[in-house]
Amino acid sequence: MAAAEGAFLAARELARRDGSGALRLAQRAAGGTGSVVWDAALVLGRFLERSCARRRLRLARRAVLELGAGAGLVGLLAACLGANVTVTDLEEAQDLLRMNIESNRHLVTGSICAKVLKWGEDVTDFLPAPDYILMADCIYYEESLEPLLKTLRDLAGPETCILCCYEERTVGKNPEVEKRYFELLQRDFELEKVPLDEHDEEYRSEDIHIFSIRRKRTDCQS
Ligand SMILES: C[S@@+](CC[C@H](N)C(=O)[O-])C[C@H]1O[C@@H](n2cnc3c(N)ncnc32)[C@H](O)[C@@H]1O
Repeated sequence: MAAAEGAFLAARELARRDGSGALRLAQRAAGGTGSVVWDAALVLGRFLERSCARRRLRLARRAVLELGAGAGLVGLLAACLGANVTVTDLEEAQDLLRMNIESNRHLVTGSICAKVLKWGEDVTDFLPAPDYILMADCIYYEESLEPLLKTLRDLAGPETCILCCYEERTVGKNPEVEKRYFELLQRDFELEKVPLDEHDEEYRSEDIHIFSIRRKRTDCQS
């Protein structure tokens, strides 16, 4: 049985901030962590909408790549804001991702496609470097950190802006994993925390953070 034919949970609906329609994302009961829409995706998606509406961010006609896209909410919102988006995730997430893209395609003003990208693997198919890399709730297990950071190093060009949103968790190994991620990240990247008052007024939370991340400039670039 194909993965997307598994039992479904209630779909997640999100009205567009500008009132132009509502995205409807199917979610599955079984499968990996990418089977449902996580809160960090809602926070990042709404941040994109708010920032574009305030002209602090321009996604129209920009090349956007999303890592660990799961059910696809963030990438779909970026595509609704006019970006040319490639959403990526593991093979097992592709059925649901593609299904959600098709059922929301009428709202897309840019373009969107789904591809397999396992962190740490070859990224040649995804180059040249995108203008934006988006990540929602992708920092959560230790074994993924090195491969994820390799993918960021391989994909990000000097002008690429990485927007990384994650939910801070206090249980188990999570604090350790988050700490290690930021240690490793700062070897090659500079980061800036997006203040909470720049997040969407409704979709924000003290424990969900957004970072804007850029590759460190080398001497010959400065
Ligand atoms: C917690 S979910 C977040 C999904 C989505 N971004 C959201 O916030 O709703 C983490 C996502 O990362 C993906 N993922 C985990 N390990 C991965 C890897 N090694 N390579 C690519 N994707 C991976 C999972 O399949 C899943 O979709």
